[in-house]
Amino acid sequence: MHREPHTAWSRSAAEPVGVLGATSFVGQSVLARLQAAGLRDTDPTAADRQLFAFSRSPAAVAGANASAGVHWCRLPAGPELPTEPLPPVPIPQWIAVSPLWTVSAQLPLLAAAGAQRLVAISSTSRLTKRNSAAAEERALAARLAAAEEEVLDRARAEGIVATILRPTMIYDGSHDRNVMAIAGFIRRYGFFPVAGAAAGLRQPVHADDVASAAVAALARDGLCSTYELSGGETLPYRDMLRRIFAWLGQPPRLVTVPLPLVQAAGPLVGLLPGLGRLPAMAARMNEDLVFDHGAATRDIGFQPRAFTLPLQGDSNHAAGRLLNR
Ligand SMILES: NC(=O)c1ccc[n+]([C@@H]2O[C@H](COP(=O)([O-])OP(=O)(O)OC[C@H]3O[C@@H](n4cnc5c(N)ncnc54)[C@H](OP(=O)(O)O)[C@@H]3O)[C@@H](O)[C@H]2O)c1
Repeated sequence: MHREPHTAWSRSAAEPVGVLGATSFVGQSVLARLQAAGLRDTDPTAADRQLFAFSRSPAAVAGANASAGVHWCRLPAGPELPTEPLPPVPIPQWIAVSPLWTVSAQLPLLAAAGAQRLVAISSTSRLTKRNSAAAEERALAARLAAAEEEVLDRARAEGIVATILRPTMIYDGSHDRNVMAIAGFIRRYGFFPVAGAAAGLRQPVHADDVASAAVAALARDGLCSTYELSGGETLPYRDMLRRIFAWLGQPPRLVTVPLPLVQAAGPLVGLLPGLGRLPAMAARMNEDLVFDHGAATRDIGFQPRAFTLPLQGDSNHAAGRLLNR
């Protein structure tokens, strides 16, 4: 059973928090968690603002500022410091859910805003795609590895204590690009193709559990520099697909492509435009992508839920909590 992770907001109760990448589905969960922990702008004209969300999109900022509880700020599209004034109060605490390689470039901005603490999101892809057959995926793993090192080094140089969280595949059954891409294919074609047994183990982690861990980590001292965040249930890829079929109310039609055929055709298929990652994705269906989140449980109180898709009709399901952008 899912237990609420520990999100006590003790040390930092009154300290403002800034959120980079706040428009994303994980960012929206972070804002909701911070608000639930008591950080809320009740008066948009007050000097003691507490919750700052950043986006590169002027439309998102303009639209979102109409909503209560969060002060939205414009982030420059590049690494330059903003031309608009920074918020008038120091922001000592930061959560970054934007791509990690953009975060190190933003560290001077964070330092100028008074940052002391940063929790940033990387990905277990840093480890799982290191030896991928697809050059694009190996490049992503290398980019994440370099970004982790750079964020930790630069943060140290700026006097900011940084913690990096590495989630496995993130879902919410509404706005994610993992479950929703599979669900979209199933809705369209009524089946899903799998390579061989598709028995590779997966640990999908819910966006709200990632958000909860980020908020909890912000309030803790003495953490390690990195933590893996895997979901609360480990299941074979094939079973994950079956759950998605059931969620959609459809019979589980898995069309198995024999592995030897996938392996033989893979190199040729990979040469076709737009399909470069397909052979690597097919091969991964039979690889275990499993991580121990014990350190995060011990130090942050991370207690992820089992793979749980929202009930149809749930306000979070498809209707969307994201900003209209
Ligand atoms: N999705 C997954 O399964 C998964 C798995 C493991 C880890 N992660 C990590 O979790 C975090 C959130 O995932 P996500 O899929 O929601 O990320 P995302 O959509 O790629 O980015 C999140 C937000 O970051 C901002 N952003 C995007 N590109 C940017 C850039 N070049 N410079 C500055 N800001 C930029 C965008 O906000 P604005 O456009 O409003 O500025 C966007 O809404 C990311 O760090 C991702 O690497 C994701």
